[in-house]
Amino acid sequence: MKKVYWIMFSMLGLLSACNYDYSPVPPGLTPPKSTATLEAKYVSTAPNKVSSAYWSKADFHAVTAQNLSIGNLYNNGLLNMTGTYNGLSSFSGGANPNLTMKAAYDDSSLYVLLEWTDATVNISNSSWLHNGPLDPLKGDSSRGWTSQRNNDKVALAFEIDAASSSAGTFSNVGCAASCHNNQMQPQTGKVDIWDWNLALSEPFGYAGDMIADGNTGLAYDAGQKSFVRNNAGSTDTSGPAFEWDGTVQNVTRASGTASILDPAFYLLNKTPFTGDIAAGEVAFHNLSYGCYHCHGENGVGNGETGDGPAFTSASINRYSRQSFKDHAAASTHDGNSYYSSMSPTEVENVISYIRGLAGVPGYCLQQPDGSNADIISASNTNLVNVNLSPGHTQYKVLLKRKLNTGNPDDAVFNLTQSTEYVFGVALMDNDGKNHIGSLKETLKFLNK
Ligand code: HEC
Repeated sequence: MKKVYWIMFSMLGLLSACNYDYSPVPPGLTPPKSTATLEAKYVSTAPNKVSSAYWSKADFHAVTAQNLSIGNLYNNGLLNMTGTYNGLSSFSGGANPNLTMKAAYDDSSLYVLLEWTDATVNISNSSWLHNGPLDPLKGDSSRGWTSQRNNDKVALAFEIDAASSSAGTFSNVGCAASCHNNQMQPQTGKVDIWDWNLALSEPFGYAGDMIADGNTGLAYDAGQKSFVRNNAGSTDTSGPAFEWDGTVQNVTRASGTASILDPAFYLLNKTPFTGDIAAGEVAFHNLSYGCYHCHGENGVGNGETGDGPAFTSASINRYSRQSFKDHAAASTHDGNSYYSSMSPTEVENVISYIRGLAGVPGYCLQQPDGSNADIISASNTNLVNVNLSPGHTQYKVLLKRKLNTGNPDDAVFNLTQSTEYVFGVALMDNDGKNHIGSLKETLKFLNK
């Protein structure tokens, strides 16, 4: 019994120690501190995950985000894709992104962890919507096919060859040296762009690897990119070429771990998109057996006869053509008699029409290779069964790259030549044209 009292007593002592923490920090366990620049410590164990122990103890650099490039719109056909149009005041509803960066290196690689706040997860890029919403910032029509929805991104820029613009040199003004003609394009020299994004690079566990130079502007590195446009024609109003084929979308990420891509947002295993959308719209609104009776005019839900759900969410892409038919024909579906009144051709057309309401993924994904597969990513996002509704508050993105890739389109971290490297960092919320961030930061490699 005495022992029990003793334990209870010491537990009380522990509780009060939590409330009034006078205890000095034990030597060797100094809490992480904020540093003036981004400092990379030498590590012998690779901090390969966002949850690696190193990161919880590492010092951090807090980046003060500023408006970098704002007020930009996409070309015709690309609508509602500029969530960072007003910069800081529109990024995540105007909340401070509180961007922090941490870094480490080992004998072969650099590791950079970026953490920032963005309350909404945006995960698509140029999805195909039929008669989608108008863009309040743009004049172009949204009738027929348009490309809509965008994703969240972070990008880093390092110098490859002495780059400059009228603003100055990269070493003096950072990213401003790569901005010219209001594009990512230095006047001279070359800049390396690491472009992490949720729609096109993270699915395979990479950041996009790009180069900006005076001749071509911004271009992807050599090798195969991780994506190709899902386009039946050549413009952003041509409509989709493919849809999901219904097979599980297994991928092996760059880190070697297995993952499954959610077909609501990602298109990997594909089959041609067929069907006549205009005829599908007519059949959907058929006076006797049209789906609109329950699923609402244009599929917005709240029909006059029943409480069929809206068809305007990307989750409809989780039905393959076959599982869509099975669901609509099932005895549990209130609209099964309406469905069975449709001819096989009408069914195909109606499914295509409904896909246009839900939004077909705008890109097909593919395994990147060559210099396009240099930057390996890990993050705290889940792409398997994506649930956008509760959102999340903080992104954690880890980028890993070889100090020297050996590819001519990449920046080199040659620590015998220099231990300090100027870089820029940009954040995008539901955008790919406007960004906030910092033009000039410094990465310092600390001695081994
Ligand atoms: C009499 C009302 C009614 C009609 C008419 C109707 N539905 Fe439905 N539908 C529902 C209800 C209620 C649900 C939700 C329960 C369920 O999934 O079965 C639903 C759900 C669905 C779903 C699943 C949606 C999801 O988000 O998972 C599909 C697919 C579907 N309907 C297709 C059709 C098609 C195609 C037509 C026209 C041929 C049609 N429905 C007509 C009532 C109806």
